[in-house]
Amino acid sequence: MSREPVGTTAHRRALIMASAITALGGLLFGYDTGVVSGALLFLQDSFGKLSSFDKELVTSLLLVGAATGALGAGRLADRVGRRPTILVTALVFIAGVLGAAFAPAFWFLVCMRFVIGLAVGSASMTVPLFIGELSPPRYRGAFVSFNQLAITSGILVSYLVDYGLSSSQNWRLMFGLAAIPAALLFVGTLFQPESPHWLIATGREDEGRTVLQRFRSDEEIDAEVADVHRISRDERRAPLLGDPTLRAVLVLGVTLAVLQQVTGINTVIYYAPTLLHGAGLGSGASLLANVVNGGVNVGMTIVAIWLLDRAGRRPLLLTGTAGMVVGMLVVALSFTTGGSNLHGAYALMAVAGLLIYTGSFAIGLGPVFWLLIAEIYPQQVRGPAMSIATLANWAANFVVTISFLTLLDAIGGQGVFFLFAFLSLVGLAYMVKRVPETKDLSLAEIQVEVEHGRAAGALGSATASTTAKSTTTAPTGTAATTGTTATTGNAG
Ligand code: BGC
Repeated sequence: MSREPVGTTAHRRALIMASAITALGGLLFGYDTGVVSGALLFLQDSFGKLSSFDKELVTSLLLVGAATGALGAGRLADRVGRRPTILVTALVFIAGVLGAAFAPAFWFLVCMRFVIGLAVGSASMTVPLFIGELSPPRYRGAFVSFNQLAITSGILVSYLVDYGLSSSQNWRLMFGLAAIPAALLFVGTLFQPESPHWLIATGREDEGRTVLQRFRSDEEIDAEVADVHRISRDERRAPLLGDPTLRAVLVLGVTLAVLQQVTGINTVIYYAPTLLHGAGLGSGASLLANVVNGGVNVGMTIVAIWLLDRAGRRPLLLTGTAGMVVGMLVVALSFTTGGSNLHGAYALMAVAGLLIYTGSFAIGLGPVFWLLIAEIYPQQVRGPAMSIATLANWAANFVVTISFLTLLDAIGGQGVFFLFAFLSLVGLAYMVKRVPETKDLSLAEIQVEVEHGRAAGALGSATASTTAKSTTTAPTGTAATTGTTATTGNAG
């Protein structure tokens, strides 16, 4: 499919650079959540024997910190701007990982995991928020999903670092290496501009225009500035929870956040080797399967980046979630037919099921959740609203992670994976009904849909983009210009 270029090569290069630097926050999110699985094996050399509770504590306090960080970051990003919030986040990352690396006592390490969590939670929402506001509509899906690519790459790198350092048992270095991308995020962000939408919405139009000139052609800028002004004028009539249409999109974001977690992704990401080993696969083969799974996660995210602005969000989300159902059914059936001690064909079947599942998550629910929450909320409340969805994501992650091993003991591999297949199926039904198509729409056009109550329901219909484009003609005409550009560009 040929696509009309937007702006010049210099504009696109500037956007790639800005997104790549900001996505270092996603890399740290992935690395810090992944690295602990390997580090756990060696902590007792320094701190004496650790109970299962100690291990759970050091693993899951990061998730508690992340929920807290997500909650605070939205407000901060709206009040002081996106750029200072990312700078503070990078500093907290640096303090947390260095603190963990040099931890003199176990309790100190546990506290540092909470501190790292604060930064992870903040990064998980400010990265898609910032990139979403910087990107032109037709490339927004790809650029915002740089974040998911960075998360999955961070997870993979953490597996490799854990593996590489396992012979020296150097858990301090495993934690401490994250200081490098954190420092790069800090220094890189010093050279980044503030989000143009935030500048314009807070009355600094001239600065906003100067920033936009780095990323857009002159013809695009006027329409975009007019859009942001129009939606900012409505600021006073945008109560966060009082407005029923806003409540509907909040419910949509929170439900997708919970679905992203309760369908089991992090039980695979955090526990796959434990699971496969426990089910009879050798330890080397389990670790190898884990690295292959991490590779599939990264590879399929790249496919998603390529497809999101071409095929749209909904086709990827629906196909991906259907694939997750199939993957989980294959894993569950391998336990049903192979018994609790998997070997030979049944072990292969379990691994194949996990790969189908992870690959499907990576083209759908993985990137699309973070992308949609950066798109569906109105400018005036985008920060706090994204915070709520992100908080729900981390809270659900915490509940699933903390209860998974107990659940596994109670109902077995077969039971757990059938449950995940069932929850994915329920999620699929919800998405078919509720998830809007946002491809090619400007953030302002999406906002018009939300304000007219068409999001989180009818906007999910196949006619969504047509409706949005015709609606936006009314207020100023400017948004319609953007919409038309988007349609023409995509038709090419
Ligand atoms: C999820 C994380 C998960 C990661 C795996 C992200 O979209 O939010 O919880 O660990 O994907 O790739």
